[in-house]
Amino acid sequence: MIFVTGGAGFIGSNFVLDWLAQCGEPVVTIDSLTYAGNLENLASLSGDARHLFVKGDIADTALIASLLATHQPRAVLNFAAESHVDRSIHGPEDFIQTNIVGTFRLLEAVRSYWGGLPADAKAAFRFLHVSTDEVYGSLAKDEPAFLETHRYEPNSPYSASKAASDHLVRAYHHTYGLPVLTTNCSNNYGPYHFPEKLIPLMIVNALAGKPLPVYGDGLQIRDWLYVKDHCSAIRRVLEAGTPGEVYNIGGWNEKPNLDIVHTVCALLDEMRPRPDGNPYAAQISYVKDRPGHDRRYAIDASKIERELGWKPAETFETGIRKTVAWYLAHPDWVAHVQSGAYKVWTARQYEHIPHDPATQPARATA
Ligand code: NAD
Ligand code: DAU
Repeated sequence: MIFVTGGAGFIGSNFVLDWLAQCGEPVVTIDSLTYAGNLENLASLSGDARHLFVKGDIADTALIASLLATHQPRAVLNFAAESHVDRSIHGPEDFIQTNIVGTFRLLEAVRSYWGGLPADAKAAFRFLHVSTDEVYGSLAKDEPAFLETHRYEPNSPYSASKAASDHLVRAYHHTYGLPVLTTNCSNNYGPYHFPEKLIPLMIVNALAGKPLPVYGDGLQIRDWLYVKDHCSAIRRVLEAGTPGEVYNIGGWNEKPNLDIVHTVCALLDEMRPRPDGNPYAAQISYVKDRPGHDRRYAIDASKIERELGWKPAETFETGIRKTVAWYLAHPDWVAHVQSGAYKVWTARQYEHIPHDPATQPARATA
């Protein structure tokens, strides 16, 4: 079995769902359920004996140590993080706590567990750390895409905290021999994406008749990857990656933000036209730029293709169409996220459960 931290968030929940659908190996999901953690993402696993959800913090060493001892996973995949750049600008502290202190404490618990494994299990064990292209900083228009060897130049409190976590993971391999794998991925999009991030925010605001806020001139470039392609890349790195190595993951799909917003608007015009017949693009509104806004990210994903044979399955055109269709088909999920009702639902889930996850973790998601 494997452990997935942050598995109630956007990418983590997509990963858990795909993992169980593809290979069926049991998963323990550990998530502290911050505002970004939503058990409704995992509701389809209700009653699935292969899945166990534990509400817990990666910085809670005693809890993590006890879960490791109880379940004896062959791998720990760390998705847990504070992930939103704008939030990191307004309040960096949570990012330092989870992304740096949390990763450090998780590494310590894992190191201790791994050190006590028998030789064959020790050799087969993996710690996979999910990171971001933002650690490499910002590119000028004509600079080549980020390679794994690009120097670290993080520019936001978020990317600085992720960079620190990457360095800790690297150090645990170099110093202690912990078999780690690090992935640095570009911008994801797809189902269960919290509507504080660009693409889901544009979809839900457009449908609600609200302004579509574009920061600055809207010409910042991001490199977009459909979330299920990110999940397949992580599965492949876990399966065949070399311990100590870093793998960049991306969709070879650079686009200015304004193009993204216009694409979303055009798909909504086609799939759910505005009642007044006007285009959704009429709702675009230019707003103050993000402080320190990185101008361009671009991932060179040739190493993972060359060494592990991974390539994205979706083009941006197919992925964004699926994404818009998913949001249109899940108005309840959107409504619960926007109203905060998913938090009420989570509280109800835990109403009668004593919090002793080591001995009583078995609260499957429902
Ligand atoms: P998210 O914010 O949607 O989810 C993060 C999850 O982690 C939430 O469920 C939250 O409750 C949980 N969490 C937060 N702090 C925790 C803690 N201390 N202990 C346990 N759980 C905790 O984020 P996401 O977009 O799914 O990103 C997942 C990972 O992928 C992050 O490490 C992020 O840096 C990385 N990443 C994201 C993107 C992207 O485009 N979203 C791209 C590349 C890399
Ligand atoms: O590159 C990978 C990173 O992508 C991940 O590590 C982060 O966790 C993830 O949040 C994402 O960071 P970004 O800052 O690139 O994503 P976001 O969706 O916040 O913004 C995408 C671009 O759109 C960025 O240039 C800012 C801009 N933007 C964003 C919002 C929310 C707007 O113009 N308007 C908005 O309202």
